[in-house]
Amino acid sequence: MANLGALFIVLAICLIAINLSLVGATFPKSVFSDWGSQQMVITGNGDDLQLTLNKLSGSGFQTKRQFLFGSIEMLIKLVPGNSAGTVTAYYLSSTGPRHDEIDFEFLGNLSGQPYTVHTNVFTQGVGNKEQQFHLWFDPTADFHNYTIHWNPNQIVWFIDGLPIRVFRNYESKGIAFPNQQRMRSYSSIWDADNWATQGGRVKIDWNSAPFIARFRRFRARACKWNGPVSISQCASNSLANWWTSPVYSKLSYSQIGQLMWIRNNYMIYNYCTDKMRFNGNLPLECYLQQY
Ligand SMILES: *[C@@H]1O[C@H](CO)[C@@H](O)[C@H](O)[C@H]1NC(C)=O
Ligand SMILES: *[C@@H]1O[C@H](CO)[C@@H](O)[C@H](O)[C@H]1NC(C)=O
Repeated sequence: MANLGALFIVLAICLIAINLSLVGATFPKSVFSDWGSQQMVITGNGDDLQLTLNKLSGSGFQTKRQFLFGSIEMLIKLVPGNSAGTVTAYYLSSTGPRHDEIDFEFLGNLSGQPYTVHTNVFTQGVGNKEQQFHLWFDPTADFHNYTIHWNPNQIVWFIDGLPIRVFRNYESKGIAFPNQQRMRSYSSIWDADNWATQGGRVKIDWNSAPFIARFRRFRARACKWNGPVSISQCASNSLANWWTSPVYSKLSYSQIGQLMWIRNNYMIYNYCTDKMRFNGNLPLECYLQQY
């Protein structure tokens, strides 16, 4: 009897441990620096990480794990003050010349001028699907939740739970969708003053350095890549892959309302309305339902 009791306790502890590892792996467990490692610092109990950009270097990190589909979230507090010319990025990407990628990029600005949130999606090496937004809050004053919800039906970019953009799967119409290649999550800060702020006219002021972006409580609830078998396994709507379940195949009516509010008030660029750029022929998805 005593032995059974002990076994039960051990089992319970194991279950709790498994659960914890799913809920929140800390930064030291889940990521490593891929460049500028001397300018990456993990603090607190491993939940907080900061990247610094100075005149010598930027810095970046990536996840150890690779995954296909999931809900990948990060709390981010952007560089305050004069951040013109800096770009902080948080994105998913596969590797190779025909890579897929899902981007959040935050383009800095002069003090008091709004950040631009730049989004894009690459499929099989081809991007050119930019949408840009201003924000309805000051992203340097506090941490905000930036989440990419990626499943076989759609990709949704969320900020604090509000959908700002959707990219639907229109493979049936011949439009590529990222659903074959495993991705990692990447974050970084770098000097992009040749293009980032007001089209490159505003340069970095190194007197304002160091530029520090803060990241907190990274969480990838995602389908772990286990080789090519994952292409079908990760796409299957099982209990484990909750992010693929039917309720996440389309936005709800209230989410569509939120998306409309953001598009009407905060969207500053949409490739789907930039006819000049595409010589009058917008990409096909621009003529299809966008959400
Ligand atoms: C972040 O946003 C996502 C998507 O709305 C949500 O699922 C998640 O619970 C949020 N996380 C936090 C820490 O608020
Ligand atoms: C910077 O501020 C200007 C002026 O308000 C704005 O037009 C621009 O979109 C902002 N963002 C960037 C990245 O230039």
